[in-house]
Amino acid sequence: MPRKIIIDTDPGQDDAVAILLALASPELEVLGVTAVAGNVPLALTELNARKICELAGRPDMLVFAGCAEPLSRKLVTAEHVHGRTGLDGPVLPAPTMPLQSQHGVDFIIETVRKQPSGTVTLCTLGPLTNIATALQRAPDIADKIQEIILMGGAYFEVGNITPTAEFNIYVDPEAADIVMKSGIPVVMMPLDVTHKALTTRARIDAFRKLGTPVGTAVANLTDFFERFDMEKYGSDGAPLHDPCVIAYLVKPELFKGRNINVEIEITSDLTLGMTVADWWGVTDRSANALFVGDLDADGFYALLAERLARL
Ligand code: BDR
Ligand code: CA
Repeated sequence: MPRKIIIDTDPGQDDAVAILLALASPELEVLGVTAVAGNVPLALTELNARKICELAGRPDMLVFAGCAEPLSRKLVTAEHVHGRTGLDGPVLPAPTMPLQSQHGVDFIIETVRKQPSGTVTLCTLGPLTNIATALQRAPDIADKIQEIILMGGAYFEVGNITPTAEFNIYVDPEAADIVMKSGIPVVMMPLDVTHKALTTRARIDAFRKLGTPVGTAVANLTDFFERFDMEKYGSDGAPLHDPCVIAYLVKPELFKGRNINVEIEITSDLTLGMTVADWWGVTDRSANALFVGDLDADGFYALLAERLARL
């Protein structure tokens, strides 16, 4: 039986690739996609989510708009990485599929309550505002969520939006704090692992060579997304952060991590949004996450190319 997931996302080129990977994977049943403000404002992330579902040939997918602002802070966006639209690179047509009228947070609550307990996994690819809001409004769902697989955080790789914080956690640290304290099993994909999932010319060419609209769009998305990180880090390519979340569900053997305690800094101005990860077990704080640190990058890109070819 495919694993039931909800994708919570702020597309974002790498979010787009993650959504495509999920829709191409028979191991997963995507119950819905909830958009959140992050890389760009909500009006663009929900629009981009629909563009990607249509690109995947899934205009039937349920797409919802969630929260437009973090719980208690002003929204910080990342057009400097993703471009003005959030999805710069390919030219994708305006979507014709509808945005669902229900609020994304209500969809999450209703779905988790409706499905058998322990069968819904949340895959979060952006700030955790929608999930934290759902947990605040409906604390009963915490016990019913199977797992949260989230892209966020950094420890040895330090920060990408500040010297100590990763973007998704920094945008809404209070939301991340609520999630990390919820007791829900969490798998965390921090920069420590996603910075090992780098595109290269050959990997992008493999997408382009698929010769399909999806292959071409993904090559153009990653081409655009690369520029910023190559300049910043002097690396060969750019990390495809968010697809790690989906790849973990499809092929967990590609990843390695440790069960450790992770706390979120929510008070210090200097280190706001830092994920304080007890990698070496130097505290007696109990483990609350599988903190992933390594992946088989060739296996990851082979999986992506194989699955995207199916769309
Ligand atoms: C995360 O931030 C966004 O820019 C990406 O989509 C990814 O989810 C990486 O820090
Ligand atoms: Ca994202």
